Amino acid sequence: MGVHERVQAEFIRRFGQPAALLIRAPGRVNLIGEHTDYNDGFVLPMAIDRAVWIAMRPRNDRRVLISSLEMTTVGSFSLDDLQRDGLEWYEYLKGTAWALGEAGYDLRGWEGVMSSDVPVGAGLSSSAAIEMATARAFAQVAGFEWEPVRMARAGRRAENEWIGVNSGIMDQMACAACQAGHALFLDCRSLEYENIPLPASVAVVVLDTATRRGNVDSGYNERFQQCQAVARYFGVKALRDVTPQGLLERGDGLDEVAYRRARHVVMEDHRVLHAIAAMRAGNVAELGRLLDASHASMRDDFEITNEALNVMVSIARRQPGCYGARMTGGGFGGCAMALVDVGQAENFAATVAHEYQVESGLAPSVYVCHPCQGAEVVDGTLPFVTSSSP
Ligand code: GLA
Repeated sequence: MGVHERVQAEFIRRFGQPAALLIRAPGRVNLIGEHTDYNDGFVLPMAIDRAVWIAMRPRNDRRVLISSLEMTTVGSFSLDDLQRDGLEWYEYLKGTAWALGEAGYDLRGWEGVMSSDVPVGAGLSSSAAIEMATARAFAQVAGFEWEPVRMARAGRRAENEWIGVNSGIMDQMACAACQAGHALFLDCRSLEYENIPLPASVAVVVLDTATRRGNVDSGYNERFQQCQAVARYFGVKALRDVTPQGLLERGDGLDEVAYRRARHVVMEDHRVLHAIAAMRAGNVAELGRLLDASHASMRDDFEITNEALNVMVSIARRQPGCYGARMTGGGFGGCAMALVDVGQAENFAATVAHEYQVESGLAPSVYVCHPCQGAEVVDGTLPFVTSSSP
């Protein structure tokens, strides 16, 4: 049974009738543009066929009641009295409700069952998927328009201010605005975006190292602060405003670590722009070369890879049909991704999984993924059945 069938079956078990609505919100891989989003730079993520699903129905009051197939606790909260209660999984839903309310949306209650096959802590954006699934659910029951930028902003605000993680807006935008068959070229300053087709000759393969970020937030937040300090040094709003030339000319006043951090971000922005040109030209060899350069920069300058990610990437690169490989997401563990000739992708996945297991002793998860649609209502055709049961 797929995740969507399981949430629907559990909904029937809990509520005694089929769900009125089925919501799907995907995870993402980022093709290139890492740690550039909170520097007002460029990113190129792609929504994948791993997702959060919610089977649900509207309520005629202002409560939200949510259970998860992965969790034992049940979330229940009133939209009129949103309070943080520690670190429960449904804080992501509550935080999103709070941020949507703050953005002026008039919400309505609903109840449902959630499940996800986006691995947690793997760099595939499991939390943004929950936030955008929640926003999609509210948009549907309260009847407001799905505006990807406004929804993503609310999700990021939930993450930053309710959950307390200093992330940028890439993950929520990927989840809110991606289109099937495409990656999302996003300017994280203006939030203008364009869906760019993934060349048909390549497949994207997710390479999960089976390592998980340890104390991720400290590493992530440290990078965030280092980037802000360099922007202050240059007297600009964000590292987006520093050119490679400017870094060369004035960078010698920075300490060695700060210089390398800045070099990663400044050059990564340029790599994203080149990657877009390569995608438009169908030049997958060049695209792969940029992915490789991005990984080297994250390994040597930004220092956010771990040994497992480096091993996985080098195994991937030596396989036939591989154009390039890099870690993806926040780093310090989790997933890498590779760009592979479409005809060789399944063999590639099997061989890489085997060689990584032999070399690292860890059991990885390696799969070909497809560029998917962002958050959506999969089945909105059934008549609404409302309830106010506790
Ligand atoms: C995490 C954050 C994103 C982004 C990436 C790194 O996924 O949530 O905002 O900063 O790391 O590119």
